[in-house]
Amino acid sequence: MFARKYESVGHFIETQYETIRKQLNGKKALCAFSGGVDSAVSALMVHRASPGSLVCVFVDGLMRLNERKRIEEIYEQIFEIPLVIINGQNYFLDQLRGVTDPEVKRKIIGEGYIRLFEEQAIKRGPFEFLVQGTIYPDVAESGDDKSALIKSHHNVGGLPDRLPFSELIEPLRELYKNEVREVGTALGLPEDAVYRQPFPGPGLAVRCVGEVTAEKLEILRRADFIVRDEIKNAGLSRDIWQYFAILTGVRSTGVKNDVRKYGHVIAVRAVNSTYTVTAEWVRIPFDVLEKISERITSEIQEVNRVVYDITSKPPGTIEWE
Ligand code: XMP
Repeated sequence: MFARKYESVGHFIETQYETIRKQLNGKKALCAFSGGVDSAVSALMVHRASPGSLVCVFVDGLMRLNERKRIEEIYEQIFEIPLVIINGQNYFLDQLRGVTDPEVKRKIIGEGYIRLFEEQAIKRGPFEFLVQGTIYPDVAESGDDKSALIKSHHNVGGLPDRLPFSELIEPLRELYKNEVREVGTALGLPEDAVYRQPFPGPGLAVRCVGEVTAEKLEILRRADFIVRDEIKNAGLSRDIWQYFAILTGVRSTGVKNDVRKYGHVIAVRAVNSTYTVTAEWVRIPFDVLEKISERITSEIQEVNRVVYDITSKPPGTIEWE
């Protein structure tokens, strides 16, 4: 049995294809593609069920190092999904200039995503359908509140209200995350896409404490890459729910090549969690932490101190902002 109702993963996929085909009936659908496994598997299913019907919009801007390239490789080149990629970094940085309050940052980014997405929807539309990677826990959490049913990877509802989508397509509504991963694997998605870490909608902006600038994003991207690389080298990627770097916004004195320097402090966070409501900090082996610290401080000139976050949730949230 698969997902309590289907004979197998294959049976689930075929049933959904049938439903999607009937729903679409030759009309066009748009997907706000975040690169996360839920939206990717949903998009892939719609694309396979009805080739030529789907357009995906991916707003790049606050993503991790090499993320856009990998998304292009997987979804555009291998699966041939029409992907409109918007480079939003300058736009977001402009909007975020001087902003330090985390909630204001989130709101600005959420609205920015909607604006950029909307522009494309209008330019390339009209689209009758909006494809969403809603999964069972999203449905369960939302209860009867219709507005809350709009899953937004940027935490701002209301998108479909402003655009003339007549219907939602949500092929994964009955599935838990592990089942979505099974479907992704069955559809041939590579392992790094299927096991991609959850990543917040506002992206690296909520891991860059205080004002976000191009320079800080660059430092954070490089530090975050080293964290991911060393966790992968240690063979721990599949054992840890989320692991990443934070640019703390704190500066501290350090010494490099006999010169005292005031540099950035990077924090490393790694947590295990099942539903993200609670999370436990992970006891990463000291030698792995040592390697991470050595690489970050030697490869990134601007950083002279690395700390490890030993806070579970509660009281700390997983993200720093
Ligand atoms: P917190 O920081 O609240 O995060 O403990 C819980 C989980 O949610 C992710 N997260 C987000 N996901 N939009 C999302 O889709 C967001 O704005 C957002 N903020 C945090 C976070 O990475 C963790 O997995």
